[in-house]
Amino acid sequence: MTLHFQSRFSLKALNTLGFDAVAERFVRVRSIDELLELRDEVKRSSSPLLILGGGSNLVLADAVPGIVAQLAIEGRAFEALDAESVRVTVGGGENWHELVRSSLGQGLYGLENLALIPGSVGAAPVQNIGAYGVEVKDLIEAVEVYDWAEDRVYWLDNRSCDFAYRDSRFKRESGRYLITRVRFLLSRQPHTVTSYAPLREVLSPQQREQPEAVFDAVCRIRSEKLPDPRELGNAGSFFKNPVVSAEDHRRLKSAYPSLVSFPEGEGRFKLAAGWLIDQLGWKGRRMQNVGVHAKQALVLVNYGGGDRGQLEKLANAIQRDVLDAYGVELEPEPRFYP
Ligand code: EPU
Repeated sequence: MTLHFQSRFSLKALNTLGFDAVAERFVRVRSIDELLELRDEVKRSSSPLLILGGGSNLVLADAVPGIVAQLAIEGRAFEALDAESVRVTVGGGENWHELVRSSLGQGLYGLENLALIPGSVGAAPVQNIGAYGVEVKDLIEAVEVYDWAEDRVYWLDNRSCDFAYRDSRFKRESGRYLITRVRFLLSRQPHTVTSYAPLREVLSPQQREQPEAVFDAVCRIRSEKLPDPRELGNAGSFFKNPVVSAEDHRRLKSAYPSLVSFPEGEGRFKLAAGWLIDQLGWKGRRMQNVGVHAKQALVLVNYGGGDRGQLEKLANAIQRDVLDAYGVELEPEPRFYP
């Protein structure tokens, strides 16, 4: 059970943008024991360390220095808490969509709106993945971490994860925690969430109560709008939906009556960044080997042969345009490394 490091390892198949980044050293970690071995090697060599999950929210440079480790801890355990709730503990290396699909197949509900999100279970809490009215924080009971600062493995309960929109303690204190397992609370009773208009519209009143129908609809909507990374490199939404004050919202709404926005609480509004970008004519535009997806302006794609430099040029041009037109700053959602 000794770790096997590979030198000059191509990460092309391990990041959904499909960038041909080369890691100085690469290793797969399959257990907590191996994780502790990795810790020793990182300390010994004083290497920078990147932990990869599914590589679905990551913008890599051409050369990645130090060690890249893919956490591949597997396993699932089920514990019935009462007639309704089941606690499901899942290894961080498991595939996210596979967990959503198989839970539903077992009659364990709650994850159906989060179908088809690329990536691993261990990556899900980092940016608090969310779609169609549900965020993963709504289903998480606790997250098991290896804490680099304290040099130990322990569970953080939901509150301690400091979850927020596309954000968490793991993202804010990037580099401190490695997520080893995630504990979910799922339900044997369906409690569907169909508040998100584009989802609600495609479901009959009866289907709105059925998690299987919600799952199917989410899969359909996503496959229509979002490119499959195996076919067209992408990292999902490239920018966060910006949140603005009521005053800015009023100003924008009167200048652009068709502005798409949602109340965000405390008098603030979330703007659909895809709409802002789309209105400026960016949809389907290509710059070198990268571009704006033809069906969803918030998704930037790699046609093949694209790299971080090209993507940054495109992203900067979009950000400038949006700032000039609306006075709104767009913040990238994926992580840039290094
Ligand atoms: N819109 C346009 N043109 C576009 C794209 C969007 O006009 O090209 C408008 C439409 O009116 C649409 C609205 O913007 O109704 C919202 O678009 P969409 O439903 O596609 O959702 P989104 O706000 O662009 C967010 C998440 C997605 C998630 C969907 C569904 C963020 C940054 N993105 O996208 O998450 O799947 O809602 O809940 O919050 C991701 O994070 O990688 C991701 C894909």
